[in-house]
This record gives sequence, structure tokens and C-alpha cells, in this order.
Amino acid sequence: MKSQPARRAYAVDDHRPGSGLLADVLAGLAAAPRRLPSKYFYDARGSRLFERICALPEYYPTRVELSIMRDNIHAMGLALGPNVRLVEYGSGSGLKTRLLLKHLDAPVAYVPVEISRSALAASVAALGREFPAVEMLPVCADFTQPITLPRAARAPRQTVVYFPGSTLGNFAPDAALRLLGQMRVEAGQGGGLLGGGALIGVDLVKDKAALEAAYNDAAGVTAEFTLNLLVRLNREIGADFDLGAFHHQARWHALAQRIETRIVSERAQDVHIAGQTFHFAAGEAVLVELSCKYTVEGFARLAARAGLRAAEVWTDPGHQFSVQWLVCR
Ligand code: TRP
Repeated sequence: MKSQPARRAYAVDDHRPGSGLLADVLAGLAAAPRRLPSKYFYDARGSRLFERICALPEYYPTRVELSIMRDNIHAMGLALGPNVRLVEYGSGSGLKTRLLLKHLDAPVAYVPVEISRSALAASVAALGREFPAVEMLPVCADFTQPITLPRAARAPRQTVVYFPGSTLGNFAPDAALRLLGQMRVEAGQGGGLLGGGALIGVDLVKDKAALEAAYNDAAGVTAEFTLNLLVRLNREIGADFDLGAFHHQARWHALAQRIETRIVSERAQDVHIAGQTFHFAAGEAVLVELSCKYTVEGFARLAARAGLRAAEVWTDPGHQFSVQWLVCR
């Protein structure tokens, strides 16, 4: 008998391609001011472009976070303890995850929750080979939606939610608070003796020039990444955005402590989607991303409102970025 071809079995596959995309886009473009959800950046090309952003000289967060992880990985392993069930929101390329898994004491399971099926498949295949003793439970889903995550076959000592990058910063304060609350619940219900916790990357407030350079790189990769959203909408929902008639803009707003990224219409023009016409004035902008930055004190206040406290805050010598170990208060 011929053997069946090996299939990548998803523990949970909750993400239908295009589901919600059209409705979200129509709602976002009907709103005033217009906005589009940034989670749709990460199609296959978007994920590849994001990997290139992470390697840019101006884009410090990835590099600095990795250096913080490397410099403090033994302390992190001690803080998280043995037999962890590791849940990760947005699996990305798995570089930091590999480092963490390597230095954890006998982790029982890895549960990546990732919206990009291609990124999820690639990272789980590589990690599964490298860590055969760790149960791989990939979940293809939008982590902003409530979802029941798979339990590990072996009982963990505690569940740790790993949320690296500066992704938490991409949520406005209310949504960030909700997400922190969800992590606290996930950590608490994951099984195990302890209450669990969350290991989170938090980008820190710094001078405007360094921040704006990080989101306006000289090579233009970030602009390409941002505008890829329009490429995707043209392909997946039949929109007719004139790709040469929009540009990328990223600005630091000191009061709100965040970078705001927009796609700006260069001239008056109409865009058609699903039988609807959207008129853009010259210079009209669509908000596509918030990248909120925190002070260590400001983040502690936010975490406290979600019932979490920072048991450890690791940072780099230049205080550019922090990795925080949050536990239930
Ligand atoms: N989460 C990353 C950040 O905000 C993603 C990112 C980098 C990004 N550059 C961007 C998102 C430009 C939108 C536009 O730092």
C-alpha cells in the first residue's frame, strides 16, 4: 500500500483566507478618518518584506531585542522555569523563539498563533526538526479574536505567553489592555501548578529622529511593505488602487507617544471595491498602523490595569527596547 503524503496538521485552523478582509476594508474606508487594519500586511510577500525590514540598519527594534534576549537568556530561562507550555502570538520567523526554546528547561509544548499560513508552516517545520521533544501545536488564527488554544499532551508547570517584537505597540491603549488581559487568562488557564505569565517585547520612547528613521528607511523597504497592502487588496478583493498614485508616510506623534503610518493619495482619484466607489482627495490619508512606544513606568501602569506586574525588565545599555516578564499580581 502506498503511504499517505505527510500533511501539516494544524491543531486549530481557524483562518479562512480573505475571511473578514472585504468587510474590514469596506468599513475602514467608509470611516472618517479612513483606516485599514494592519494585520492584513502579512500575506506571503508582506511577511517577506517584513523580514527585510527587520534587517534594515535603521530598524533597531529587532536587532536590539535579539541582543537583549542573548544577553539575558539564562536569567530568562530561570525566571520561566522548567516544563513550560509556550504560547506565541504571531510566530514570525522563529529566530527569538529558537533562542528561548533552546534555553528553557524541558519545555513541553509550543503553540504558535499566526495569521500567515506560510510563515506558520515555515517556522513550525524548522522548530519541529530542531526540537523533536517539544510538542508542536500550530494554530492558524487571528490572535486578536477569542480562541481556545490546544492543551499540551503532557502537563506543563506553567503556560507562558511569548509576545516578542513590538507588536503590542501596534494596538491602541484600549486594545493593548484587552490583549494583555487575554494573555493573563491564557496563562492562567493553560494548565499547570503556577499562574503563568507573559514574556513581552516593549519598545521604549526615544528621540524623534531615531524613531522616524526606523519607519522611513533610506532603501524604501518600509514604503514597499506598507503599499503591498494595496497590492493585496487589488488581488484578493478586486480593488483597483493605482499603485503609483499613493505613498507611504510615517510620523512620530510625541503627545500620543506613537509612530502613525499612513498611505497617502497623491491626487484626487476614485477607487472601486465590490461595486462601491471611494473618492480620495489629493493628500487624503488612510491610517494603517500605530506603533505605540512606552516608558518603563508607563507600561507598568498599563500592565497593572490588566492584572499583571513586571517581575523582571531587561533592557539594552542604550535603553532603546525592553523585554518584560509579566506575572499575575
Ligand atoms: N510591528 C512592527 C512595528 O510597528 C511592524 C512594522 C515595522 C510596521 N515597520 C512598519 C508596520 C511600517 C507598518 C508600517 O514596529
